Amino acid sequence: MIQIDKIREDFPILKRVINGKPLVYFDNAATSQTPQVVIDAIVDYYSNYNANIHRGVHTLSQEATDKYEEARIKVQQHFNAKHAYEIILTAGTTHSINMVASGFASLIQKGDEIIVSALEHHSNIVPWQMLCEKTGAILKVIPMNLDGSLQMDAYHTLVNKKTKVVFCNHVSNALGVVNPIEEIIKKAHQFGAAVLIDGAQATPHIKPDVQALDVDFYVASAHKLCGPTGVGLLYGKKEWLEKLPPYQGGGEMIDVVTFEKTTYAGLPHKFEAGTPNICGGIAFGAGLDYMNAIGFDNIANYEAELLAYGTAELLKIEGVKIYGTTEEKTAVISFNVGEIHPYDIGVILDKLGIAVRTGHHCAQPIMDFYKIPGTIRASFSFYNTKEEIDVFVNGLKRAVMMLS
Ligand code: ALA
Repeated sequence: MIQIDKIREDFPILKRVINGKPLVYFDNAATSQTPQVVIDAIVDYYSNYNANIHRGVHTLSQEATDKYEEARIKVQQHFNAKHAYEIILTAGTTHSINMVASGFASLIQKGDEIIVSALEHHSNIVPWQMLCEKTGAILKVIPMNLDGSLQMDAYHTLVNKKTKVVFCNHVSNALGVVNPIEEIIKKAHQFGAAVLIDGAQATPHIKPDVQALDVDFYVASAHKLCGPTGVGLLYGKKEWLEKLPPYQGGGEMIDVVTFEKTTYAGLPHKFEAGTPNICGGIAFGAGLDYMNAIGFDNIANYEAELLAYGTAELLKIEGVKIYGTTEEKTAVISFNVGEIHPYDIGVILDKLGIAVRTGHHCAQPIMDFYKIPGTIRASFSFYNTKEEIDVFVNGLKRAVMMLS
């Protein structure tokens, strides 16, 4: 059960007033808000043990190192990775994807094939296109259906022995639909292809088990999990992380350096050159602790109620068209009202204190598929309420009246 009043107290920002109205924050798919315990973890780090890690014998450095490595173990346990060293702490999902895509440059040859889905965020398209340009590999796309689902029959015919990597998001950021990643992984493995799953949008709602999924790489961002921006994870199976070359050269990622030759450190340090976002990593762990104490089953059940309620209320408004209408969705509603430009609605909603995202959501191919410039995206979290949905729906009616 979600104790909503207690939970809302944990988030100072939810008390904000925007343009004279209480904030209704429905842009959770862009970033989640930060509970006080995470803010406290950040303040504690800078107030009490700010130091560089893995480098000093002094007390502060050791305390910071211990806390950072504890955070890695929290991430490992949350995602059920077999080993803590399979968790690379990165600057976020985009960074993680680029690490893998650039590493594959040494494993891919001209004519090899890479598969992505039609539902990808630009960060899941562009790095693979760059890899194809570099290597002469060919990018193939799993097409989508009108309801936002993937054409899985087409996927089954796309995978073949030339396929080297399959890339798919667990949940579409633009539509909120949940993709059949188990089926995608199983099929790719029949042909020896690696699979990278982008969990940026899934992880705020679903607790993934990377071993049960048997996924090769899984990436996500802390800032969608009640943590800070600028930190995230790359989970990789040991065998794959050992095969990939380091992404960056620098301090901390080496074993021995001479001017003739450098040998690299073991995992995870091989991928963690330079001073990392130490405070961010520690706060990432604090965010996971906070969400796990609430419980992901409770979060999913509560958000499902918000999604059902919000969808039903929105559909009462004439002209509303929702994009992404599959059975299995996270609490995201992407929609338009008649021919009104989503941006115009977004601006009026902001005047009423309501934060939504408008535009193509960094997923232009999806908008091209629907032949629309963009959508209005309302994305809910476990700290939102049905009353806020009522405020939003009333605000939307007002905006539609003004713009029609
Ligand atoms: N990828 C984030 C979103 O969908 C920023 O809004």
